[in-house]
Amino acid sequence: MVEPGDKLFLLNVDTNTLTGTFEAATKGGYRLVPQAWRGQYPYQVKIRPTNGLHTVGQAKESLAHLDIRSHWLLHDFEANALQDLLILAGAFSPVLLAPPSPDTLAQVQHGLKRERRNRGITALDHDRPALESTTLWDYPKQSYGKTPKGNNKYAGVTPAFILYNLIKRYTLPGDLVVDPMCGSGTTIDVCREERRRVIGYDIVPTRPDIIQNDARHIPLDDNSVDMVFIDSPYGDNIKYNESPLSFGTISAENEEFYDELEKVMVEAYRVLKPGKVLGWLIGDQWVKQKFTPVGFKIYDRLVRHFEPMDIISVTRRSQTSNTGMWHNRALRFNFYLRGFKYLHIVRKPIGYSPQEVNNRTVKWARYARGANE
Ligand SMILES: C[S@@+](CC[C@H](N)C(=O)[O-])C[C@H]1O[C@@H](n2cnc3c(N)ncnc32)[C@H](O)[C@@H]1O
Repeated sequence: MVEPGDKLFLLNVDTNTLTGTFEAATKGGYRLVPQAWRGQYPYQVKIRPTNGLHTVGQAKESLAHLDIRSHWLLHDFEANALQDLLILAGAFSPVLLAPPSPDTLAQVQHGLKRERRNRGITALDHDRPALESTTLWDYPKQSYGKTPKGNNKYAGVTPAFILYNLIKRYTLPGDLVVDPMCGSGTTIDVCREERRRVIGYDIVPTRPDIIQNDARHIPLDDNSVDMVFIDSPYGDNIKYNESPLSFGTISAENEEFYDELEKVMVEAYRVLKPGKVLGWLIGDQWVKQKFTPVGFKIYDRLVRHFEPMDIISVTRRSQTSNTGMWHNRALRFNFYLRGFKYLHIVRKPIGYSPQEVNNRTVKWARYARGANE
């Protein structure tokens, strides 16, 4: 979870000291320096010191006093409070193990309590969404954390967890993320919280930080963006607004729908830097006895321009047809309700040679089958 720019503190559990403040120079990783600590601690991050280094003793007791757990991703104000503690009470040498004085600890604790109260932050608010390791993503709610991400009343709002996973995997703090159809602004809110720069457009903006724009022309330079995310209309099933330019006015049964969305793909391709990722969320359609594989048709258009990376299946939970009546109808009239959406992940090619592609060697692991398989 650690990313470049995060403030870090070293808790030495043997000497019971806390040293800091460091700044992460890399993402957290596995065996960045394999020989470090004789390989006993493979989860590592490269750091650089900031504001000088200080150490205090009785670290575990002090953290308990401040109600800070060592595995938490701290809020900025909490990291600042720890930094203050180290500057006020810490020694410049890590061999001096003096604990903070009761006065210093009380002063820092007082400030922390006030900030937490003002922001309504509790211990639970340190949980971040999990990073997904499979291609099946399932979220029981639209958002997480203390602040709303987008508006869960907006028809067609995107689960914030999807944005969280995409930006954590494919971008770094400071990178520029663009959402050309950003609806209620989920992308903007997730990106801001995770220190990404972000621009959100929509044909009909729902809030002042969204720029009015038709996604077929994105007003940005070529090769200037680090990730694009799009949760487009899936056809004309939802009326988003009155705009005649909305893709939500075109039926997904009509080729025009894909022709128009392909113009957006071409724009996304143009503004993305080589090697950077586009995530496109889309669902299939079953209307009046007719199935339309919208997800496959969008994928087909995407790979005319981009390189495929993966396809994620995102469980659909909160659509209006998720009611007893509709489940009943699906059984009686022999059709299926849509149970998932596709998240197509593609990338703008870097331009490596076909020879390099052919040189890939694949090593398959083979497992003996059990008696019952
Ligand atoms: C599924 S919603 C996006 C939801 C959004 N990600 C959120 O979390 O709120 C699709 C959005 O596409 C927008 N849209 C439709 N046609 C557009 C166009 N031509 N240019 C820009 N935005 C468009 C709609 O106004 C709608 O807000």
